Amino acid sequence: MSLTLRPMTESDWSDWITVDEEAFGSPIPPYRAELFRANTEFERSLGAYDGDLLVGVTAVCSFTMTVPGGPIPVGGVTAVGVLPSHRRRGVLTALMTRQLTDLRERGEAVAALYASEAVIYGRFGYGRAADGMVFDVPTHRAAFVPGAPVDPALRLRIVKPAETGETFEKVFDAVLGSRPGLYARTPGRWNSVLTDTEADQGGAGPLRAVVVEDDGGPRGYALFRIKPSWNDAGVPDGEVRLKELFGLDPAACALLWRHVLDRDLVSRVTTGNRPVDDPLTYLLADVRQLHARWMDELWIRLVDVGRALAARRYSAPVDVVFEVEDAVCPWNARRWRLTADSSAARCVPVEESEEPGRAADLTLPVGALGAAYLGGQRLTSLQEAGLVREARAGAVRELSTAMSWEPAPWAGLIF
Ligand SMILES: CC(C)(COP(=O)(O)OP(=O)(O)OC[C@H]1O[C@@H](n2cnc3c(N)ncnc32)[C@H](O)[C@@H]1OP(=O)(O)O)[C@@H](O)C(=O)NCCC(=O)NCCS
Repeated sequence: MSLTLRPMTESDWSDWITVDEEAFGSPIPPYRAELFRANTEFERSLGAYDGDLLVGVTAVCSFTMTVPGGPIPVGGVTAVGVLPSHRRRGVLTALMTRQLTDLRERGEAVAALYASEAVIYGRFGYGRAADGMVFDVPTHRAAFVPGAPVDPALRLRIVKPAETGETFEKVFDAVLGSRPGLYARTPGRWNSVLTDTEADQGGAGPLRAVVVEDDGGPRGYALFRIKPSWNDAGVPDGEVRLKELFGLDPAACALLWRHVLDRDLVSRVTTGNRPVDDPLTYLLADVRQLHARWMDELWIRLVDVGRALAARRYSAPVDVVFEVEDAVCPWNARRWRLTADSSAARCVPVEESEEPGRAADLTLPVGALGAAYLGGQRLTSLQEAGLVREARAGAVRELSTAMSWEPAPWAGLIF
């Protein structure tokens, strides 16, 4: 196989869809393909060709993502697929390697992705930066703790999702900066949130929405579906499937949760991806009723270690030298010095710092820095797992503390 790589164009679209359909083993309905196309920046796509045959695909979305300290440009890697006839012959490796070089040349210091399988991207230097929580709460056991916030000024309004987009956007834009991992949504991205075909409904009826507001305007919203059912004894056994819930303050969040938990004829609320520190985990009087599990959510890759680490802020002052291992992006594989206080950060190759001969305090793979980048994974945990090595006692803890951040990172929307 002789592989050539090049960006795809509109004329490659049907071949692109074919590769992803074959790779994922499921058809992409035309409306989904249209949504996908609307979110596609063709000049940022990459196709791998075996002769004239398109055998591998990927693309990047230009995101503005919140990281500790504020928003930065991030390359959102998406649509990765290799034709089953060409798998395990290095096509993905070729695509990933070229894509990382392209990202660097473009000046994007950080890449992010959602993985179909957790085993795929670690080898390319991505680290598991955010986890999502999946849970299932029985509504009859969902009382709140005493002292849960209540604001009498708040009221609920049932709305039609398709007619309320501006309100959702207003709320989302107000919370966007509050949690690392959230990324700004384009109109195309909102379309994929609000799409409501039969296939989206999955047997659970149309998308429903409720807004909480006071005299000053909207303070939160929830998007969900309801799957009604009755058990053999005729007892209502419906399910609320929560899609999104965002509130500007604790009382708004609590009221939204109360609303979905208190819907009539419903016996459980299920949700596929919430932040691991979701307020509901503290509001429920009986936390054992959460029936939760977590899974990897966002994976982060530092494309350019120096620029990426200088672009975020730190929880504590830090001055460490670390050796980075990076077989895929050799420009990162060197000794770096990170110095930061609460207002600024600098990360340069140690030979360009004021102490050019300083030895490394610790050694770590680039994926460990990606994992810690959004502040949710502790480098000390990776050290305990034997994946980060310390040369100066206490150095890992210093860097780990400085990189940690509140609240837990979470992107909340697959791209
Ligand atoms: C995942 C996928 C893109 C891999 O493509 P590929 O061209 O076969 O990957 P490569 O040949 O470059 O593999 C590189 C290495 O990763 C390993 N690898 C790749 N995919 C893997 C997987 N799904 N599980 C375990 N290992 C995997 C390969 O074994 C190989 O390891 P080696 O270097 O030790 O031999 C392809 O199998 C695919 O399209 N899968 C279905 C769609 C999908 O899941 N896409 C990802 C969306 S996020």
